[in-house]
Amino acid sequence: MPRIVLLGPPGAGKGTQAQVICQRCHIPQISTGEMLRSAVKSGSTTGTQVKEIMQQGDLVPDQIILTLIKQRIHQPDCQQGFLLDGFPRNLSQATSMAEEGIEIDTVIELAASDDMIIRRLGGRRVHPGSGRVYHVVYNPPAVENTDDISGEPLTHRSDDFPATIKKRLEVYHQQTEPLVDYYRKMASQSENCTFNKIDAEQPIDQVERDLVRIISV
Ligand code: AP5
Repeated sequence: MPRIVLLGPPGAGKGTQAQVICQRCHIPQISTGEMLRSAVKSGSTTGTQVKEIMQQGDLVPDQIILTLIKQRIHQPDCQQGFLLDGFPRNLSQATSMAEEGIEIDTVIELAASDDMIIRRLGGRRVHPGSGRVYHVVYNPPAVENTDDISGEPLTHRSDDFPATIKKRLEVYHQQTEPLVDYYRKMASQSENCTFNKIDAEQPIDQVERDLVRIISV
């Protein structure tokens, strides 16, 4: 049963590759970023609490995230596995997840430099309805600024502007990157968990090939 964590800086390609893995493994993609963006869009209490934090590039408080994850992961479609995209984001979230009895068997780090991240996020366009992700140069839609499937317009994420990208990278290095060592160590001490690093600066299809080799489907 695949229970996968995708780790990596903003813009490494987690969302892009998560869609591929989830289709192949028939498991749900649990993206805390997408869950939070839907909450903001719906105008719920959670959405109102997190909107400004996200626009500034900071992490949303653990309490909010853990409530979302616990509700989601106990739904029936997660019983045959799941892929976590954007969670955990700090050591406290990782240890809370372990204490909750949520086990992980595959951790995949998508590694990319800050310079590459800045180029990717500046050119990213998204289809807000589905979460489909494009890039104006590296992964353009068939028709400029238009979603390939629905024909609806693409948008620029509100946290994909230079000052917020810089802040998100700082937050990644300070709070999320320590999870690389945390999971590497966990995998070295367990027969039930593997840690895998992929060079995410390669073209999208090569990253996909490396991922498929890891998940063996
Ligand atoms: P979230 O939505 O999780 O954003 P993120 O981690 O910053 O990651 P991104 O979605 O920006 O990037 P990605 O790695 O998915 O890259 P993508 O595939 O799109 O979080 C947003 C915010 O929510 C956070 O800042 C925080 O405030 C809050 N939040 C979320 N989870 C939280 C948590 N657990 N705790 C607290 N707060 C939380 O690719 C990027 C671009 O590059 C695209 O244009 C794509 O087409 C292109 N691309 C992808 N791969 C390649 C490639 N190999 N070559 C060329 N181009 C590529």
